[in-house]
Amino acid sequence: MRVSLTVNDTPRTLDLDPRTSLLDALRDHLHLTGTKKGCDHGQCGACTVLVNGERVNSCLCLAVMHDGDEVTTIEGLGTPENLSPLQAAFVKHDGFQCGYCTPGQIMSSHAMLKEIARGWPSHVTEDLSAKAELTIEELKERMSGNLCRCSAYKGIADAILEAAA
Ligand code: FES
Repeated sequence: MRVSLTVNDTPRTLDLDPRTSLLDALRDHLHLTGTKKGCDHGQCGACTVLVNGERVNSCLCLAVMHDGDEVTTIEGLGTPENLSPLQAAFVKHDGFQCGYCTPGQIMSSHAMLKEIARGWPSHVTEDLSAKAELTIEELKERMSGNLCRCSAYKGIADAILEAAA
């Protein structure tokens, strides 16, 4: 099945088995291996990418569901020579240990900071729209879908809080 995606601002067309997940399309067909496969069941967040600006677990969606969509992976956020502010904050605060969850942590927190910038999305259950600052409790809740098996949470939180300030 033919699927057209714009990945990191580049139009890509793929011929895929319709059962191919977005994660496998990115990793196995486009060789964008920055996005990681952890659980492959929507539980760890290692596969987080942005689809039309919103964070999704790419292991949970079929690539064909996103025909025509814009996908951003960790490779589209910055480069080793030119890190994004969030990536630089993760380096500064040692926001990782083994590093396997790091792309997902960064993509998810990147989307979260965008949510803050526009006053949080309308689907949040709590009324957070009046709060200008990201608190540690809000951060824990908003990032609860991204697990770190090394428990490098202190550095991850410090990095995100600095980027949010
Ligand atoms: Fe997708 Fe774990 S690999 S949530």
